[in-house]
Amino acid sequence: MRLEVPVMTQADAVPPAKKTIPKVRRPPAGADPGALPRHWFGGVALFTHVSNGVNLLFPAGERFFVRSVRHFEARLDDPRLRAEVRAFYGQEGSHTKAHEDVIERLREQGYEVDRFLRFYEWLAYGVIERLSTPALRLAATAAAEHFTAIMAEDALERRVLDAAHPAMRELLLWHAAEEIEHRAVAFDVLAQVAPGYLTRMGGLAYATVTLAGFWALGTAMLLRQEEAPLRELLAAAKAARGDDDRQIARDVFWAGIKDYARPGFHPDHRGNAGLAQAYLASAGA
Ligand SMILES: [Fe+2]
Ligand SMILES: [Fe+2]
Repeated sequence: MRLEVPVMTQADAVPPAKKTIPKVRRPPAGADPGALPRHWFGGVALFTHVSNGVNLLFPAGERFFVRSVRHFEARLDDPRLRAEVRAFYGQEGSHTKAHEDVIERLREQGYEVDRFLRFYEWLAYGVIERLSTPALRLAATAAAEHFTAIMAEDALERRVLDAAHPAMRELLLWHAAEEIEHRAVAFDVLAQVAPGYLTRMGGLAYATVTLAGFWALGTAMLLRQEEAPLRELLAAAKAARGDDDRQIARDVFWAGIKDYARPGFHPDHRGNAGLAQAYLASAGA
């Protein structure tokens, strides 16, 4: 069953008077990827594999986020932030499991994803993570959490998932709402343990390069496994977009990078909490 999400803008979204501790929930019942068709995003291979590409990064990426925050947990003395951190572990843990189920579905559909996953996990976590300092890893996590929150905001505000199969729409909207709920946790830990602007910007560069690089690679790897040639897949995506000329790279990511680079930036200033609350209320969560 499709969840009715009210159309809201950031201006409509009233942030709560007092931020609540994120809540760990199970994925919605309809978010089971077991019956997902191959081209689950509007029947368009390109849209599907752009989404599948980031899905491949989530499980190992979210485990990295948890490791990066956990490294500093003993140094946190604010009981509220400690409670938020524990809720953050719980939410990321259930996202990991849900996205692993989607990856399993890709295997069932005949996609060869394990060579890519081995390479990604070796380079991102066996090499880059080991060469980085704990503060830089935490800063990369805070920046990556900003990216997940702005993607979440876009999904909830602009209803970009309306054309997606209901199982993926529900899974991604649930994940989106929880990403908005815990959007400031890693940032607040970073502000306590390594508050320097240069560390924050180093983390932004780390997260931007690794996310963009591995996402593009994963998407390309999946597209290469389609029978149709790339130019046909691109033409089909162009036709499906019609006269929509919005560019996610520019309008979501580049705008988000500029926002995050402001010295006074804080994730709570984006005023997107109401979007998550409206979705969670509509989902009965
Ligand atoms: Fe997550
Ligand atoms: Fe997250």
